[in-house]
Amino acid sequence: MLAKVISCALVGLDGAIVEVEVDISPGLPSFTIVGLPDAAVQEAKERVRAAIRNSGFAFPMKRIVVNLAPADLKKAGPAYDLPIAVAVLLSSEQVSADLSKTILLGELSLDGSLRHTNGILPMVALAQREGLPGVIVPDTDAKEASLIPGTKIIPITSLAQLASYLRGEIPAPECTPSEVQEYTPPASSVTDLAYIKGQEHAKRALEVAAAGGHNVVMIGPPGSGKTLLARSLPSIMPPMSTGEALEVTKIYSVSGLLPSDTPLIRQRPFRSPHYTISNAGLVGGGHWPKAGEISLSHHGVLFLDELPEFGHAVLEVLRQPLEDKVITISRAQGSVTFPANFMLVGAMNPCPCGYYGDPFKQCTCSLSTVSRYQQRISGPFLDRVDIFIEVPRIDYEKLADDKLGEPSERVQARVKAARDIQRTRFEGIKLICNAEMTPAEVREYCQAEESAQSLLKAAMKQLYLSARAFHRILKLARTIADLENTDIIKAHHLAEAIQYRPRRMV
Ligand SMILES: Nc1ncnc2c1ncn2[C@@H]1O[C@H](COP(=O)(O)OP(=O)(O)OP(=O)(O)O)[C@@H](O)[C@H]1O
Ligand SMILES: [Mg+2]
Repeated sequence: MLAKVISCALVGLDGAIVEVEVDISPGLPSFTIVGLPDAAVQEAKERVRAAIRNSGFAFPMKRIVVNLAPADLKKAGPAYDLPIAVAVLLSSEQVSADLSKTILLGELSLDGSLRHTNGILPMVALAQREGLPGVIVPDTDAKEASLIPGTKIIPITSLAQLASYLRGEIPAPECTPSEVQEYTPPASSVTDLAYIKGQEHAKRALEVAAAGGHNVVMIGPPGSGKTLLARSLPSIMPPMSTGEALEVTKIYSVSGLLPSDTPLIRQRPFRSPHYTISNAGLVGGGHWPKAGEISLSHHGVLFLDELPEFGHAVLEVLRQPLEDKVITISRAQGSVTFPANFMLVGAMNPCPCGYYGDPFKQCTCSLSTVSRYQQRISGPFLDRVDIFIEVPRIDYEKLADDKLGEPSERVQARVKAARDIQRTRFEGIKLICNAEMTPAEVREYCQAEESAQSLLKAAMKQLYLSARAFHRILKLARTIADLENTDIIKAHHLAEAIQYRPRRMV
């Protein structure tokens, strides 16, 4: 007999409906899965066979063919275990139920219990989009699934429990929906700015960067606090909105990085990949494209420590996503697009020995070595950096001072106020912060007073700034003005923005 249930495949971050058809016919016992299954789906045979037996059912000793339709869509991962098992039970008439409007998902264990499955959130989003009323998911993933309103989530612990429910022996298991609350990050989990001594101008630059979502590169000698400063950035960034949190959670869910006790990620991501990372690891890729670090830092920070050590090619692949805020990975089978709207933070020493430009310690590198080292960061890459700051060594008096600096909480409040202004400004258009403005928006929103305009004109001429630099300085000045809650850009806003321009030290 033929049975049909529905399940879901993942294409990038989106779900697509998959029909699971099972036909059992007389003949020599066999179990075949067709419809572009990957190795994990092929192995479902063994899990399904054992789970059915260990749940008190008989595994039919006949010719079983499973078809996953549409046949041209690649099916990956173990989420098809449950739909295949249920379709086998329906087809062998051990259970009868109408499952034509319910999506089934879940990995089976050999004893018939259900395990945590990746990508539940986008699959439930698909059910909501397609107007399907119910989704059957593993109990451990029910909280994640219930983040999408409007779909009935049926959490189950085992195949046996599902069978009892389908036969009407027990009522539908209840799912308590996750509550989406305002989030405040725990204070201890992040480095607080208060404990970083001195470096006031670097802290100010980070505040501007966080307020407008600008990319930052810090340059300075070893041990001056660059890594420390970068790690404190999440503590001054504004909390994510629920929409942003859902987007981030989706990416982590699909990548299998969502902890089962955290249904919704509320803290902005902070990713700090090592410089040995490959292109595919950074921007995403693989035979079946997976999200890379730039997508895992979506709405958060991508921190590249020891910037020149990252290969030239690795930094160059960042250029396009830095501009477009998305990455499209094309393969023979099709292309997928992942969001990648992150804030780039880089840290580097000025030269291989680290002390070029240091007033106290002699640099041992030749000028050509310093220049070669700094040229590892290409001009076009540097041109995409909004804020460039020098972080000099800090002297004993400041370091030994017992007084704490301004706590991150206060800085965060200012950043949040500036972001609120931006949200109102960009209402109705798809922008989130000033850094994302295109030339059209710069024209509309970055009105500067007359004295500021003449300052910019002089700077353009004397510093040979590019057209991109012109827009970048105006965007930065807009953020600095927002931090002061001023509508029109004044000369001192522009002066500060110009001082952050990227430049080579040699
Ligand atoms: N401004 C500061 N206030 C307090 N502690 C600091 C400061 N700067 C550096 N330190 C101390 O020095 C350590 C090293 O700092 P950090 O790792 O940030 O240096 P870095 O600039 O990244 O150096 P490198 O170029 O070698 O990577 C910190 O863990 C901290 O203990
Ligand atoms: Mg460091």
